[in-house]
Amino acid sequence: MPNIPDHFNLKARDFGDSFVWGVSTAAYQIEGAHDMHDKGPSIWDEFTSKKGNTYKDQHGKEACEFYHKYQEDILLMKKMNIKHFRFSLSWSRIMPKGTGSISTKGIEFYNEVINFCLKCGLTPWVTLYHWDLPHALEEKGGWTNRDILGWFEDYVTICAKSFGDRVKNWMVLNEPMVFTGAGYFLGVHAPGKKGLRNFLPSVHHAVLCQAAGGRILRNLVSNANIGTTFSCSQITPYRNNRRDHMAADRADAMLNRLFIEPSLGMGYPWETIPVLKQMQPYMVSGDAERSVFEFDFIGIQNYTREKVKHSFFVPYIMARIVKASRRKVKTTLMDWEVYPPSIYNMIKRFNGYPGVKKVIITENGAAFVDKIEEGIVYDKERLSYLQAYLKQVHKAQREGWKVDGYFVWTFTDNFEWAEGYYPRFGLVYVDFENQQRIVKSSGKWFSAFLAYKKIDL
Ligand code: NOJ
Repeated sequence: MPNIPDHFNLKARDFGDSFVWGVSTAAYQIEGAHDMHDKGPSIWDEFTSKKGNTYKDQHGKEACEFYHKYQEDILLMKKMNIKHFRFSLSWSRIMPKGTGSISTKGIEFYNEVINFCLKCGLTPWVTLYHWDLPHALEEKGGWTNRDILGWFEDYVTICAKSFGDRVKNWMVLNEPMVFTGAGYFLGVHAPGKKGLRNFLPSVHHAVLCQAAGGRILRNLVSNANIGTTFSCSQITPYRNNRRDHMAADRADAMLNRLFIEPSLGMGYPWETIPVLKQMQPYMVSGDAERSVFEFDFIGIQNYTREKVKHSFFVPYIMARIVKASRRKVKTTLMDWEVYPPSIYNMIKRFNGYPGVKKVIITENGAAFVDKIEEGIVYDKERLSYLQAYLKQVHKAQREGWKVDGYFVWTFTDNFEWAEGYYPRFGLVYVDFENQQRIVKSSGKWFSAFLAYKKIDL
């Protein structure tokens, strides 16, 4: 068996006793059971039913069958010494039409998952919205319709009342920049809408929901630890000239500042991206205050860094990301540069906001080609990636920056949105023919790391 070059001397306890270690997942990516009991369709069920939207027209109808296999998966987490499990709730499983009637079966399913976690000694971390809007709501405009504020408040109220006695760690939204940008501007994710007139209202309504969700949880859940999560990447100018520097600033405002700053009372970064001022018609008096919420923690999700250059051809922002594959750097299967200092710089960056009380890495991980040989998945590249990023997290912590937890994306290989099942991000390999799980070398290493053990892989 090949030996893993082990220059990694850290142990989980080097991050402190209260540091939270976990794995992250999302409902549509793992659950399957897309129409089980009363579940209503979500925008991802709808989007994947149309030809050409995803890699090989793949979908999440079965995914990892977590709906049926949750006990097996949670037991495996337990066996792997994982103590914290982040998963999301499917809105249309709980409220099939998004508003009005509640599915008792849907509530029951999440009760079972939560109770089983607790029984196995795992702490549940729940995301309220990880991109799977009920399709019935999209038919009324989805995130572009300001009514979403009321729909979302009702949904959060039900979740808080149903699960808040046992779930204390909550995240309101997952990566709002991605679901508004990819879903309502570029049209490459569900619901496949495009253009500024869809994007701008969606952004503003997501910002309002982000804060409103926080307030509801605060009122209804005692001792809640309330956060929300942001995608973020270090942005570097491609060339060292003034135009690329300014392009990098604009890309940074769009990708890293757009959602956190209004929640901290700083407003939108209009001065850097003037076109965002066109959001004003969607705003009513009092919205600036309504956008603010004091989160207990900010979840940052980092995978890579981006290099950006000036471009006259990209409307509104005049900045273009230079693909990693064109830069001759080490990349993952997503064509994301492997650049561990990005996570360190993002931790520092979010610490720089005086209103940020705590930072937790709620996602980090990598997709590579995984091969099974004699029943073993030796995923050396993922293992090195995780170790290299963790070293940077530790460096930030040692320098005194707040960072209180780390969740690997993800537990099992799963449905990677428009990329289908091709990119595998899991610590655990899934054979999608028979739903068999095989712990990869990275998973074995992570589990030994958590138990402060050294292992031979
Ligand atoms: C971000 C998203 O939250 C998650 O759903 C996705 O699978 C991973 N990053 C990897 O792209």
